[in-house]
Amino acid sequence: MKDVLNYQAVKEMIDITSNLYRLGWDERNGGNISYLLEENEVLQYVDAAKVLRNIPMIFNGEELIGKYFLVTGSGKFFKNVAADPETNLGIIRVAGDGESVDLLWGYKGGGVPTSELPAHFMSHIARLEVDSENRVVMHCHATHLLAMSFTHDLTPKVFTRTLWEMCTECLVVFPEGVGILPWLTPGTNEIGEATAEMMKVFRIVLWPFHGIYGAGKTMDETFGLIETAEKAAEVYTYVCAQGGVKQRITDENFRALAKQFGVVPNKDFF
Ligand code: 13P
Ligand code: ZN
Repeated sequence: MKDVLNYQAVKEMIDITSNLYRLGWDERNGGNISYLLEENEVLQYVDAAKVLRNIPMIFNGEELIGKYFLVTGSGKFFKNVAADPETNLGIIRVAGDGESVDLLWGYKGGGVPTSELPAHFMSHIARLEVDSENRVVMHCHATHLLAMSFTHDLTPKVFTRTLWEMCTECLVVFPEGVGILPWLTPGTNEIGEATAEMMKVFRIVLWPFHGIYGAGKTMDETFGLIETAEKAAEVYTYVCAQGGVKQRITDENFRALAKQFGVVPNKDFF
């Protein structure tokens, strides 16, 4: 077996969690990430037959049976991941009953996967139906998006339009827009189901007064998605502080942008 700490996926997880902490989007144990692993890669680092523990889940994830994930631990601080990956991360496989996971590495000292596993796994199931290459689901408490959820209209159309208008790149990066849930209790199957339903259309979903979910093919793509939306929210904060919008990107500009970059913007948002 090769050393897990040399596994590219683990290195990426360490890099992203460190960055999310550095950016101030994951205070304390805030945030969680799940990364769907390639079986032929992960089995070079862990023994499929050596199950350290079986950990129950509060929902049925039978669509994911046999799949391997690298997942941040519940209650673990992103700031500590780089110094101690084996305590703060885990490699798990969805067990044959679909209602538990087998731990193959990590969660040293009795840890368990994020309390948001329902939202992560249900989102993976939803995204995989739309895009078979989707591998990452990322949740964080991005500061300006969180702040905007208190001050801005919370319909997906109006919220998305504001973000698109704050930075020319936004429409190119998330042409389908941003999904928005009502406030729901974190960690529940209810919020998991609602997030996954949104994930059929959107790769970014706002949890008002809490944070943001992003999904994508790679760590970089998913991080970049959240980063771009968060940057737009930051610009919006400055724009409001400077007295509000005096001129804006027009629908005509957006259509030219979409044509230039070959993206199809959500038609319901025009
Ligand atoms: P966990 O520590 O269980 O991952 O929870 C953090 C969080 O952000 C909950 O939404
Ligand atoms: Zn959270």
